[in-house]
Amino acid sequence: MIKIDNIVAGYTPEVDILKGISLHVDKAEIVTLLGPNGCGKSTLLKTIAGVLLPRSGTITLEGQDRSQMPVHRKIRHCSLGFVPQTDNVFANLTVRENMQVGGHYMPAQACQRRMEQLVTMRTKVCQPRRRP
Ligand SMILES: Nc1ncnc2c1ncn2[C@@H]1O[C@H](COP(=O)(O)OP(=O)(O)OP(=O)(O)O)[C@@H](O)[C@H]1O
Ligand SMILES: [Mg+2]
Repeated sequence: MIKIDNIVAGYTPEVDILKGISLHVDKAEIVTLLGPNGCGKSTLLKTIAGVLLPRSGTITLEGQDRSQMPVHRKIRHCSLGFVPQTDNVFANLTVRENMQVGGHYMPAQACQRRMEQLVTMRTKVCQPRRRP
């Protein structure tokens, strides 16, 4: 469970990009952030992941306050990952090697099992509904 309360964050001290954002994501719930270019979608994801630390507000993961936990500790202790919008794979590694990097903190056998599941998974393609 991810609970964000009244988050304020930005890249420079003078400018707040997120100005009091709150969001609640339940276990197994899939949420899509929609909005125009530059509205702060990636900034919110970076703040949840701990790439960017909030100036105020709270980020609660599985009931624990993780507001000021940086990304490398969240990956390790909260199994929380972040795939950036660009430069998101190591171009000179294979697909499997890239997946292994992502599963670095998992026990080796569990990582192997999960990789097998993912590479054999069938993707269901849904046609968007036409507007009347
Ligand atoms: N590293 C950075 N340093 C300073 N400002 C930044 C940085 N990254 C993003 N911004 C600014 O933060 C604001 C929000 O950007 P963000 O990338 O979060 O938007 P977005 O909703 O993800 O946009 P897009 O739809 O283009 O992906 C924009 O004004 C952008 O210029
Ligand atoms: Mg973005």
